[in-house]
Amino acid sequence: MQRILVTGGCGFIGSEFIRQQLAREARDREIVNFDKLTYAGNLENLAEVADHPRYDFRLGDIADASAVACVFEEFAFDAVVNFAAESHVDRSLLDSGPFVTTNIVGTQVLLDACRRAKTPRFLQVSTDEVYGSLGASGLFTEETALAPSSPYSASKAAADLLVRSYHHSFGFPSVITRCSNNYGPCQFPEKLLPLFITNLFEDQPVPVYGTGTNVRDWIHVADHCRGIELALERGRPGEIYNFGGRTEKTNLEITHLLLELLDKPRSLIRYVADRPGHDLRYAIDCSKAERELGWTPRVSFEQGLQDTIEWYRRNLAWVDRIKSGAYRAYYERQYGSRLGAVTPPKTAQQGHSP
Ligand code: NAD
Ligand code: TYD
Repeated sequence: MQRILVTGGCGFIGSEFIRQQLAREARDREIVNFDKLTYAGNLENLAEVADHPRYDFRLGDIADASAVACVFEEFAFDAVVNFAAESHVDRSLLDSGPFVTTNIVGTQVLLDACRRAKTPRFLQVSTDEVYGSLGASGLFTEETALAPSSPYSASKAAADLLVRSYHHSFGFPSVITRCSNNYGPCQFPEKLLPLFITNLFEDQPVPVYGTGTNVRDWIHVADHCRGIELALERGRPGEIYNFGGRTEKTNLEITHLLLELLDKPRSLIRYVADRPGHDLRYAIDCSKAERELGWTPRVSFEQGLQDTIEWYRRNLAWVDRIKSGAYRAYYERQYGSRLGAVTPPKTAQQGHSP
């Protein structure tokens, strides 16, 4: 039996990782999910595995050393996968404090707990945003210099450097993965795709920052999580592995595609003031992961996007519950003045849980 501590497992990517791990009955794996349940953490994302015999949930903050020590006293772990983070660039521009605490201090607390417990494997889930922005050409490789642009990406880069230093100084058995923009089910509707999909369901406007020419490299969350599993199993200690979907799209291309798929008019597009420091382009060279881990992205963007839209359509109640809470205040603060004081869209009252 392999016991894995997953932090931030109630979020978008962590919950997909846990569902994947527990779906494989042949796998002799036990998962302990340690999550603070911030605005982005949602127990509903794991409702289908909540009673699984190989799954445990512990409420806690990775930046709280005594709470982390408690879970390490209760369980001996064969590996730790750190998903827990404040993850949204726009929120980091409004208040970077929680980003420093969770993303940097939290990672340091986990690293120390693992060192003390002699945990044999630590995987830091990081992002391509630590590399900053590309121009019109080129790809990020694992050798690209770190040049983060936002408080979010700076805090992730700082965490990566801490992980690197623990490997360098103490021979700490860590692996770092850096992935491009994920999409798929259970993504919090503050990020581009779920925000636009759920707004369009309600015929509400979609706010395109600047000219919409910024490029992101989209990858389905299931492909990212398969990559994390392979990096956990086969990654060499001290190494970094990039994952990407080889699917570069401008934000405007994405917006037009969504309007077409949902049969909505282009008049719903609102060009709003650009995000400060907005990175122009992200694109990943994932050949190292393909070569060393035997990984390759499998989900086509066309199919993945259709499935994602379908998931949100089937889970309008999930969306409603999120959009009716503190989300309203965030939406008003982030978009109110740009969109002309709109109220956040209210989706239909009916739907199913994930
Ligand atoms: P998310 O915001 O959906 O979920 C974050 C989860 O972490 C939530 O469950 C939240 O409750 C939990 N959390 C936050 N602070 C915590 C704390 N102090 N202690 C314990 N739990 C805490 O994020 P996501 O999109 O699933 O991203 C997961 C990880 O993947 C992050 O580390 C992020 O930087 C990285 N990443 C994300 C993307 C992407 O496109 N979303 C791409 C590359 C890398
Ligand atoms: P986002 O989903 O926030 O991911 P990231 O900033 O981590 O790449 O944004 C993806 C792209 O979409 C990015 O170029 C910013 C843009 N964007 C908009 O144009 N409007 C929006 O309302 C949001 C949230 C994002």
